[in-house]
Amino acid sequence: MSQLNVNIPSAGADRYTIHIGSGLLGSVPAQLEKDFSGLSKFVVTDSNVVAAGHLARLLGKAQVGTYIIDPPGEGSKHIDTVVSIIEAMEKASLGRDTLIIALGGGTVGDIAGFAAAIFKRGVKVAQIPTTTVSQADSSVGGKTGVDSTISKNAYGAFRQPQVVYIDVETLKTLDDRQYRSGLVESVKHALIADDEYFDYLKKNMPAILDRDCDVLEQVAYTNCRIKAAVVAADPTEQNKRRILNFGHTIGHAVESASKFSLLHGEAVAIGIIGAELIAQKMGFAAPDRLKRIQEALSMLSVPLKIPKGLQKEDLFDIIKRDKKAVNQWPKFVLLDKIGHVYFKDGQWAHDVGQQIVDETLDRLYL
Ligand code: GLY
Repeated sequence: MSQLNVNIPSAGADRYTIHIGSGLLGSVPAQLEKDFSGLSKFVVTDSNVVAAGHLARLLGKAQVGTYIIDPPGEGSKHIDTVVSIIEAMEKASLGRDTLIIALGGGTVGDIAGFAAAIFKRGVKVAQIPTTTVSQADSSVGGKTGVDSTISKNAYGAFRQPQVVYIDVETLKTLDDRQYRSGLVESVKHALIADDEYFDYLKKNMPAILDRDCDVLEQVAYTNCRIKAAVVAADPTEQNKRRILNFGHTIGHAVESASKFSLLHGEAVAIGIIGAELIAQKMGFAAPDRLKRIQEALSMLSVPLKIPKGLQKEDLFDIIKRDKKAVNQWPKFVLLDKIGHVYFKDGQWAHDVGQQIVDETLDRLYL
């Protein structure tokens, strides 16, 4: 079992510990009772997590108010779900002295975190991620939100958790496609921050795919170390935090245009290849780099090409509406080498002409 402290210097209260271990779920309520004794607890989870037995393992015999999101997944990540959660909490007479416990994947964490950000002007939240994508990425850093009918995370707030518990054993029951897709965020962390971690992931991929808990603990720890350092440097994404969006500009567009038939990590894998093609075109990618990245992503059996059914015009429209777009065109995060993001003129994200993106999308089609 290991533990990491996240310190957010610009917001004194935002300092929290990430606990990482195998089989720690059952000990969490007692720990939360000790650390947050004056607060009422309210669990937000989803029906997949309940079916996997994680809610029962977490709560044992403890009686805790619970909201179960059903159906699970991105389709429920909208404002009506947040309204239902808040009304369930009101019916349970909960007040500002509440700790919301988000137990589940990225969707649960995003919805529960957003409910915590706005319920009675804000209550505390603990994140207990149970998927590869949420353990690597979304449970740490305080991004919360839900989708509108037009775009992803259109409603959102920063709400740093009070504590994060990562139990890698919860990954044992995760569906194989979700499992592999979520690991793309680990590859992303390696690509933006740590070339040794990139080699580690490649070397240990058989054990990772075998869900070896010792290796998974190491993976979780390294992801959190990388992510926490970036978040602490730039909690509200003014500049450096953008590097966490590597592969996400094209990735989000592909994910939305596929109407979420592609999973987040699958779409990000395509986006990473897109970012690499752009870097190649702009002349700062060594010739073998794309191949090395393709090899690593291929080990996860995720798609690396845009499915034929998606229209390029739709992708372009979504890219123009990207949250970070200025004058309807986003900046792109690009690598200058594996383990390091291209940094120029004080900026971590860069202008890329529409023509280059157009040609890149062409090259990305199946
Ligand atoms: N997932 C990107 C971030 O947390 O900034």
